[in-house]
This record gives sequence, structure tokens and C-alpha cells, in this order.
Amino acid sequence: MNTLLLDALNQRNHRRPPVWLMRQAGRYLPEYAALRRGRSFSDMVHNPELAAEVTLLPIKIFEMDAAILFSDILAILDALGVKWSVEEGVGPLIETPFATADDVRRLPSADVRNDVAYVAKAIRHVLPELNVPLIGFCGGPFTVASYLIEGRSSKDLKKTKLWMLRDPDSFHALLKHVTACSIAYLNMQIEAGVQAVQIFDTWANFLSHRHFLEFSLPYLKMLAEGVKETQVPMLVFSLAASTFAQEIVHAGVQGISFDRGADLQAMRRILPPECTLQGNLDPDILYADKKTVKIEVLRMLDRMRNDPGYIFNLGHGLKPDMPVDSVKVVVESVKTFKP
Ligand code: CP3
Repeated sequence: MNTLLLDALNQRNHRRPPVWLMRQAGRYLPEYAALRRGRSFSDMVHNPELAAEVTLLPIKIFEMDAAILFSDILAILDALGVKWSVEEGVGPLIETPFATADDVRRLPSADVRNDVAYVAKAIRHVLPELNVPLIGFCGGPFTVASYLIEGRSSKDLKKTKLWMLRDPDSFHALLKHVTACSIAYLNMQIEAGVQAVQIFDTWANFLSHRHFLEFSLPYLKMLAEGVKETQVPMLVFSLAASTFAQEIVHAGVQGISFDRGADLQAMRRILPPECTLQGNLDPDILYADKKTVKIEVLRMLDRMRNDPGYIFNLGHGLKPDMPVDSVKVVVESVKTFKP
């Protein structure tokens, strides 16, 4: 078993850093496109055998040090009775977005283990095939709520923020409900065998400091407390991680996954030593020529040299048009790095 990731999450990795990449199983892979032909994304997510197969693709091709379950932060919506899909050229789409406090009041009492049982099945399918840890995940409550309200990807989260400002009480009620479901969801994934979890609170970068403290952080804290007993380490990713790193540490998580803007060496100086740092190569570097990609990866590794709690990753996910060869160069450069 490859233990680099778990060692880094416990600040005791004295070898080269572990590497995995957000969205490592996705459309940039021709093998993914082939499996996806004739099926919707949601079909794939809901099919445990296929989800397991897609999870394994990047591990077989590049041999990353961790696998992340092929699924989506929208899967939890199945437990909220909300219909969702991902449409070609559009992205995530919610059939009937939430618009009023009544929508929150009408939320059904959730049966997470039943409604997203397919995720636990996918985990059980994939585990016997893996020699690296499997990472489970869910969305940050603020980010999930933003999809529920916007109904699709949004450039400004205007509806979400207007609701938050107009009626903070029902907005909190929505966040609480999503959080409770997410805790059950994470614990289900942990019972099924994931060895680490990552929370994707991507869109917290739309919040001011004060609003982050009110509408995102307390719910991240509840998620951390909700899985604490299992001792499974938790990472938090957000495009706001550089801005709110010191605050996120107070949520009681084991690691922070940084967006491209952070200087990780500087973060290491200001964050507690028991906080694992993950990230944060600018994904756009993968569009450059191979030599440039390698130089940039080595630069990053050099800055984090001998850090026992560092995990190499990107500052955000791989995009569909990123070259497979660049991914290969990134993974190989980390794996051949001499600490
Ligand atoms: O990282 C991984 O490889 C694991 C799987 C994973 C996916 N989505 C697969 C996916 C994870 C962890 C996510 C999280 C996710 N989903 C986030 C948080 C991380 C981030 O990127 O900020 C968000 C915001 C979503 C919502 C979502 N789902 C978006 C914005 C998209 C892309 C839409 C598009 O058309 O570009 C999806 C769809 C999605 N999720 C795909 C994959 C592989 C592509 C689906 C396809 O068309 O085949």
C-alpha cells in the first residue's frame, strides 16, 4: 500500500511529496470520453461499476498516489429530493432551483444512506483494485446551497447572495439541512472505506470575510466535527483558501487545499505545523510546453522541499482541453523528485 498521502496528512512524510490532481478522472482523458459516449454524466455517477472504472482510469494511466472517487458534489442533491444533471456545454443544471423560504421548509427528511447508496457501492467496487488511498468528498454547504439557488453555474452567485442578505434565517436553515445530510454522506463514505475526505467549498471566494465567518466556516466546522470520531483526515479546498486559510484551520480540519494565489512557503510559516498544505500549481501551466510544465512543477517542489505535510496538487481542477502529456509530465516530475 502506498502511504505517502496519509503520511503527509499526518506530517510525517520524509520522502518525496504525494501527488494527485483534482478532476484527474475527467474529459481530458480519451478513455473517459470513450466510456462516456452514449451516456450522460449523471448516468455514469449513478452506476457504481462505471464510477469505479472511471475512478481507476487515471491511477492505471499515470499512477497518482491517491484516487478520488468519480462522482460530483451534486450527488447529495439526490438526498434532498432535487433533480440534477450536467448538460453538454452548459454544466450543472437543477430542474427546479430553490427560490423561497418555502422551498427550504418543504425539504423532505433525508435518507442519505438509501438515496446515495450508489456512492457507497462504487467505493466498495473500487477499493479492492487500489494500492493507493481513496479520497471521498462532498461539497461545502455554502457551495452546494449556491447550486440549489442558482440552478446552474453562475458568474456572480447573485441570487444566492441576495437570498443570504434578504433572509439570512432561511439561508441558515438551508445550510443546516445540507450540512446534516453531508455529515451522514461523509460517514457513509468512510464506513464504505475511503481513507481521507475533501470538502469542495469552491465558491466561498464570493463571500466577504464577515460573511465567510457567518455562512461558510461554521458549516465546515460542523462537517469536521461530524466525522471527527472516525479519525479520517479532512482537507478543505476552496478558491478562497488563500484568503481564509487561518480561519479554515479553526474549523478543525487536517489540511487545506490551496487555490493558485497562495505562496505555500509563506502559508507554512503562518499556519500551525499540524496543518497539511495541498496544492497549488496554476492549472493553466498545463497548457504550456512540456519543458515549462516540468520547470514550474520543480519550482513548486523546491519551495516545499522537506515539508513532511505537503501534498502536490493543482490550484483547481484539470480542464477538458488540457493535454494528457502535460498531466504525465506533472505526475512524473513529482514522482522522480529527490527530496
Ligand atoms: O476530481 C475528481 O476527479 C473527482 C470527481 C469530481 C467531479 N466533480 C467530476 C466531474 C469532483 C471532486 C467534482 C467536484 C465538483 N463538481 C466541484 C468542486 C470542485 C471544482 O471544480 O470547483 C464543482 C463546483 C462541481 C460542479 C460541477 N460538476 C461542474 C462545475 C462541472 C463541470 C461542468 C462542465 O461542463 O464543464 C461538473 C461536471 C463534472 N464533474 C465532470 C466531471 C468529470 C464533467 C462531466 C462530463 O461532461 O463528463
